[in-house]
Amino acid sequence: MPKVGLIGLGVMGYRIGINLAKAGLLEVVYNRTIDKAKQFSNEFNIPYVENPAELAKRSDIIITMLSDDSAVSSVVLTILDVIKGKVLVDMSTISPTVSIDLAKKVSDRGGVMFDAPVIGTSVMLESKKAVILVGGPSEKFNEIKDVLYAISNTVVYFGENGMGLYAKLVNNLLLGVYVAALGEAYNFGIKAGLKKEQVAKVLMELSSARSPTSELKLPKIVSEDYTTQFATKHMRKDLEIIERESQKLRAVIPLAVSSLQFYKIAEALGYSEQDFASVAEVFKRLSPR
Ligand SMILES: NC(=O)c1ccc[n+]([C@@H]2O[C@H](COP(=O)([O-])OP(=O)(O)OC[C@H]3O[C@@H](n4cnc5c(N)ncnc54)[C@H](OP(=O)(O)O)[C@@H]3O)[C@@H](O)[C@H]2O)c1
Repeated sequence: MPKVGLIGLGVMGYRIGINLAKAGLLEVVYNRTIDKAKQFSNEFNIPYVENPAELAKRSDIIITMLSDDSAVSSVVLTILDVIKGKVLVDMSTISPTVSIDLAKKVSDRGGVMFDAPVIGTSVMLESKKAVILVGGPSEKFNEIKDVLYAISNTVVYFGENGMGLYAKLVNNLLLGVYVAALGEAYNFGIKAGLKKEQVAKVLMELSSARSPTSELKLPKIVSEDYTTQFATKHMRKDLEIIERESQKLRAVIPLAVSSLQFYKIAEALGYSEQDFASVAEVFKRLSPR
């Protein structure tokens, strides 16, 4: 059995750690804020280390679940000296261009890297119902398959490095636009004089455009309880990645670009750390009373 080390015990990383520990695969953990690593270690009896290079030395497979490009880049650069013969699986949602560049650096030093971002919330990870989208060398995919299936029940291989991330961004482009549109439609209904429950019924039960996302996010919009499932700052980050990639790909993305502006305004209103369904507040506050 490969020894797995996990870097990043945030909302998602913590749950990934739990699934790996339950499967008996987790050897060691690291988190920048050491208290979270100590907490995990106490809870699941898994040792923690105080730097990523130490973790990499003790692991065959290194999993990272971090916030963004700069977090992943800084961690990967600190483990390059010990990456030879190891497999790095980055599950963060970052720029495919940055990820492809890091994969080349890892490969130049004798290691292998995969991008393996996740569709789904922390709750879906807990029940292993999240989806893992994989990009990287097909001939090495078998080496990480069992570990990924220990994390979630659906694992889909999309192609070479970066392709898992592009697949994830396809999802988040639609998700970002869709939840902004939910906020706009909800506010339109309220302004028309419909009751909250009536608008929610249309969007969650009667609409031909209803979806698992309307079921998940409408209750938050109605109750104005934006307890975080997926933070506004992360959705803003993903739409910014899409915006940058679209220039390289020459893809026209007017809906994603305009939705991005609403998430930026939500952050300016103080909702950066809260759930991205808080984008609905922008429509309420921008509409004249
Ligand atoms: N939450 C979701 O529902 C969800 C769903 C799908 C995908 N994702 C993606 O998964 C990734 C993680 O999301 P999350 O919700 O777990 O985020 P999170 O709770 O904010 O956790 C971020 C993790 O990254 C670490 N980190 C940040 N900057 C760092 C740096 N410079 N060096 C080292 N470590 C650093 C944090 O360490 P500290 O504890 O020290 O801050 C923490 O462990 C993101 O790319 C997100 O877009 C999230």
